Amino acid sequence: MRAADIIRTKRDGGELTAAEIDSFVRGATTGAAWAPYQLSALLMAVFLRGMSPGETAHLTRAMADSGKVLDLSDIPGPKVDKHSTGGVGDKTSLILGPLAAACGVIVPMMSGRGLGHSGGTLDKLESIPGFRVGLSEAEFRSALRNVGIGMIGQTSDVAPADKTLYAMRDVTSTVESIPLITASILSKKIAEGINGLVMDVKCGHGAFMKTRSSARQLAESLVRVGTANGLKTVAMLTAMDVPLGRYVGNTLEVIESIETLKGNGPRDLTELSVLLAAQMVKLAGLAEDDDEATRKVQTALYSGAGLEVFRRCVEEQGGDPHTLDDYSRLPTTHRTMLVVAPRSGFVSEMVAGAIGVASMVLGGGRERAEDGVDHAVGIICRAKPGEKVRAGDTIYEVHYRSSAKMMAALPLLEESFTLADTPPVIEPILMEELA
Ligand code: URA
Repeated sequence: MRAADIIRTKRDGGELTAAEIDSFVRGATTGAAWAPYQLSALLMAVFLRGMSPGETAHLTRAMADSGKVLDLSDIPGPKVDKHSTGGVGDKTSLILGPLAAACGVIVPMMSGRGLGHSGGTLDKLESIPGFRVGLSEAEFRSALRNVGIGMIGQTSDVAPADKTLYAMRDVTSTVESIPLITASILSKKIAEGINGLVMDVKCGHGAFMKTRSSARQLAESLVRVGTANGLKTVAMLTAMDVPLGRYVGNTLEVIESIETLKGNGPRDLTELSVLLAAQMVKLAGLAEDDDEATRKVQTALYSGAGLEVFRRCVEEQGGDPHTLDDYSRLPTTHRTMLVVAPRSGFVSEMVAGAIGVASMVLGGGRERAEDGVDHAVGIICRAKPGEKVRAGDTIYEVHYRSSAKMMAALPLLEESFTLADTPPVIEPILMEELA
């Protein structure tokens, strides 16, 4: 079986056999029989010709099996995770993970770092002094046993084929392919050793998938391929035109997450966190239906049980638990600057993508994977769509460290919102549910 023949089959729109897909994934993992330019050529052929559901399911399994697949069966309880395709101000993992764990779900959460305009859970958690996302497998297991949740980064032995292929896709314009995205996301999730997965597929200006039809296609593919691989998968299509909550930036998002776990969160963030946590509880078999699952999660939220799980999670992973009561222990910058409304009116639009890029430009995110982040900087949206402002009222409070970076972010923020004379129609955050 020659790489060139496999490439030709896909180039001409044919279907690859399981053995051909295995050869490709082995090539990506070990370099055997596939040169990097041949791997790239097959990626482009898949990008242009697509893959059948069967091919995508096999690719996903082969990529998961390219590295270590955790076996968590010795830890009692249903294991369920949530994965978001990424957005701006999307801090739900920090809230729903502890809420689901407080309801009895075991949450082995392997997350990523921020890239481009979208933030990453690991960067947010690392704002908490001492918090270690690089736990050993033994430490991860004891976090799951002791607290019910472990929040870590992807280790190098998880789905190594994805690491190689994702880096190649990034530089060959083959990222936006439904089968390749599906296999990339799900291979890493299958390797976590979970039984169920709730996918939050974001849709809108601030998301990877800009249109409803592309988001739906991805959601359908994730549900189909996850299920085919024995992973109970549900997908929620949720709106990402406007930042989620009001705080964007690592420390700022930790503060808003803690406030949400204290019951003081903004409505959209609280609603989405409860909705996704309830899906986790239902997938775990700990509730009969949506109503019962939602009631359990709300009880965990308003009793403070979720907050206590987060406190124990921070402590277990080496972080300073006093940050939950004293935000001055988090990295902050005391330099702030206000962007104000030039006239009175209703905020009618707020382009999430532009705010995400502004946060990255301030130093809160990464342009390239190897860049570092400044945990202290970010943006607070003091007004959001639907809210009335008067001329001079604050729209954004910008937390910055470098004046030059602030000056570069400023035009993006000034252009990112629109004022109108009449209030806009606010669409619900949940657009569709697929199971
Ligand atoms: N996230 C991933 O992990 N993989 C993709 O291909 C796209 C987003």
